[in-house]
Amino acid sequence: MGDLATLTQQALDEVAASTTLAALDEVRVRWLGKKGLLTEQLKSLGALPAADRPAAGAKINVAKERVQAAIEAAEARLADAAIAAELLAGRIDVTLPGRGEPRGSIHPVTRTRLRIETIFRNSGFEVATGPEIEDDFHNFEALNIPSDHPARAMHDTFYFADGRLLRTHTSPVQIRELRKGRLPLAMIMPGRVYRCDHDMTHSPMFHQVEGLVVDENVSFANLKATLQGFLRAFFEKDLRTRLRPSYFPFTEPSAEVDMSCVFCDGAGCRVCKHTGWIEVGGCGMVHPNVFTAAGVDAERWTGYAFGMGIERLAMLRDGVNDLRLFFESDLRFLRQFGAA
Ligand code: FA5
Ligand code: MG
Repeated sequence: MGDLATLTQQALDEVAASTTLAALDEVRVRWLGKKGLLTEQLKSLGALPAADRPAAGAKINVAKERVQAAIEAAEARLADAAIAAELLAGRIDVTLPGRGEPRGSIHPVTRTRLRIETIFRNSGFEVATGPEIEDDFHNFEALNIPSDHPARAMHDTFYFADGRLLRTHTSPVQIRELRKGRLPLAMIMPGRVYRCDHDMTHSPMFHQVEGLVVDENVSFANLKATLQGFLRAFFEKDLRTRLRPSYFPFTEPSAEVDMSCVFCDGAGCRVCKHTGWIEVGGCGMVHPNVFTAAGVDAERWTGYAFGMGIERLAMLRDGVNDLRLFFESDLRFLRQFGAA
């Protein structure tokens, strides 16, 4: 029995060396199983004198119990380690900032349109819209542009096979609103317009905002005050406006709307081509033929109208030098614009 102590130590060493529950179980079977090395020792008791057997048997049982206890302790240790490893792997650092949700932003052209709408609503204008697919009557005829009129050539029109067209300006919405017969009125009509035209300052699809005020005794001075008030509010600058004589078939008299250059305050720079002025749209007093075509009594009612390019206004306010950037959907560009 001299080697029982050695065997026991060997078993305990193997228990201590087990790093997984599976390895530990193998050790248990090897030493304590039915044919385990310590269990086998009990079979050798038969060779001893009967008087020595109880003491020898007790020693073997004590050895078995020590190994069993060591295995149970090791089992608990390994199970704890497994839980600790699992906890560590799934650890959450609650002090880290949250991931958050990516925030979208409003497209700069939409943002500009909303800004324009807010400014005009604040001075009592309503906002109306009309269809982008128009007919010849609303886009041209009723606006005093008959089919043989040279102004048609200035509008590079996209036509459909049936003679309808993509509106070339927002002015046809004037006709639609006037035909409703609700006068007096003060409204703006923003929306998309289309022209077969493409370069740094022209896009085949762009946005305009139309303005129309109809009442008795509306004057050109009212028009100028409205435009100047709007531009000052829009640019948040004490800029000057200039109405330069021009021609539109649907207004008489007509003018181009110029404002002092926002980049050089009128001193002259590359953006304003050293004139100190920048054109933002057209305007004029509603032509009597337009009233008549829309069923409005031209003897009683007077009105002014204007039309401005929304991209043009956005470019000037946000310092964008190429109109095409608005339509390329490049997130690096779009992310520079916050909410409205
Ligand atoms: C008109 O379209 C007239 N309907 C404006 C008007 C309304 C005059 C009411 C009188 C009374 P015009 O073609 O000049 O006018 O266009 C007006 C503005 O639209 C221009 O000043 C410019 O800012 C913008 N614009 C014109 N073409 C383009 C284009 N291809 N791309 C971007 N902006 C454009
Ligand atoms: Mg023009």
